[in-house]
Amino acid sequence: MEKNREIRETENIPVTEPERQYYFIEKAAAHLREMSREAGRPLTFCVTTFGCQMNARDSEKLVGILEKIGYVEEENEEKADFVIYNTCTVRENANLRVYGRLGQLGRIKKKNPHMMIALCGCMMQEPEVVEKLKKSYRFVDLIFGTHNIYKFAELLATRMESDRTVIDIWKDTDRIVEDLPSERKYPFKSGVNIMFGCNNFCSYCIVPYVRGRERSRDPKAIIREIERLSADGVSEVMLLGQNVNSYGKTFNPPVTFAQLLKEIEKVEGIRRIRFMTSHPKDLSDELIEVMARSKKICRHLHLPVQSGSTRILEKMNRRYTKEGYLDLVERIRKAMPDISLTTDIIVGFPGETEADFEDTMDVVRKVRYDSAFTFIYSKRTGTPAAVMEDQVPEEVVKKRFQRLLDEVQTIAAEACAVHEGTVQEALVESVNEHDDSLVTGRLGNNLLVHFPGDESMIGSYVNVRLNECRGFYYIGERTEKEK
Ligand code: SAH
Ligand code: SF4
Ligand code: F3S
Repeated sequence: MEKNREIRETENIPVTEPERQYYFIEKAAAHLREMSREAGRPLTFCVTTFGCQMNARDSEKLVGILEKIGYVEEENEEKADFVIYNTCTVRENANLRVYGRLGQLGRIKKKNPHMMIALCGCMMQEPEVVEKLKKSYRFVDLIFGTHNIYKFAELLATRMESDRTVIDIWKDTDRIVEDLPSERKYPFKSGVNIMFGCNNFCSYCIVPYVRGRERSRDPKAIIREIERLSADGVSEVMLLGQNVNSYGKTFNPPVTFAQLLKEIEKVEGIRRIRFMTSHPKDLSDELIEVMARSKKICRHLHLPVQSGSTRILEKMNRRYTKEGYLDLVERIRKAMPDISLTTDIIVGFPGETEADFEDTMDVVRKVRYDSAFTFIYSKRTGTPAAVMEDQVPEEVVKKRFQRLLDEVQTIAAEACAVHEGTVQEALVESVNEHDDSLVTGRLGNNLLVHFPGDESMIGSYVNVRLNECRGFYYIGERTEKEK
């Protein structure tokens, strides 16, 4: 009898996606109801995200699935019954943070019989990490990677039905599953994946190994998602990809990123379009033209330079030169004088000399970035740079890093001060964390302004006079005057 039922159940499991996952959401929900009954209270979850905006977007998908299953969100991970870490491995310190916090979680788990811990994201794509977890962190319940995140409900239901750790890691994938639930962090803005993976293999970077080969999402699916978001109150979208400028190249016939942008501009209700990240080698004149003409595409480009030295850029496999980059910046500025430019810079790449570093400083002074993320080179096992000779000594790197940071910050503060006194449109994002008589709004160029207001303004666009620049943000006031 029991056996027959089991067979019937197996037969009923849908084989197509996303139907299969909705089936497992129901199944996990039934288990959760049982677990809640035992505990005598609703069970809670907490998703902690490390790393970039891709991970942040993936976490929204995890939250969407968890809420559909019936878990209730708990902000404090030490109190939650189900803790999920969505991990990053782009630099060594990202990994160390995960291990540190995991040790602490293990101690808490001993005291809570209902507690479960799941690990997912980029770190899980590294075999040595999974080995280490299996050996030294046996209290982890569920481990999965970046390619099968859509299977979260299925994996969770499997874990609920057995008491063994469930581990499912795929090496790569060519599939993209559409139409799964997701829960946005902000009601008025949303990230939208337009592509997954990366094919660039910059020699220092682990992302292509942990995120797999580049795959673009079908433009129709992207537009459908944005139309739905708009109908649901979203007015700002951030298009996400490791290299958005190579979007659609594999389609037959190819679709360019600029063409995709033009389609997205037509979606009613969308007022702001952002995107990241742009690889300088693929940024086309067509894109500059479309941006310059657009009223919706924000005047902001994140254009990681990584190094200003042509010699180092070559060793990094970035496929542009210092001069090529500066020329690109000039073309962009000519078409859009008011554009805000931001960047990523790595200090201490193997073989970097004082002269190479001076080239980086030179680019910083010439481009005058509105802001820059600066990183100390971190050796990632398995990447070509990890085995390059001439790794730069730590003391040298630290000194260079400080010099770069000082320069970047001085220039950013000057660049920010240029807009002092002007009136700009801000999208109100939140009540100010430190002073609840203020709200915080984001300008088109991505800078923040704090000004008097209240919760009711969240999600609306208002004109703000930027009275005072405080380095990286403004203090302002609302005004009716048009900019
Ligand atoms: N796809 C994006 C970047 C993704 S990773 C691009 O190509 O621009 C984000 C940033 O982390 C990179 O721009 C780089 O500056 C930094 N980064 C990547 N690998 C690193 C490493 N091994 N050490 C230090 N910084 C690194
Ligand atoms: Fe890494 Fe380069 Fe790909 Fe960016 S483009 S994710 S830096 S390999
Ligand atoms: Fe980190 Fe993965 Fe993003 S390694 S930076 S979370 S793609």
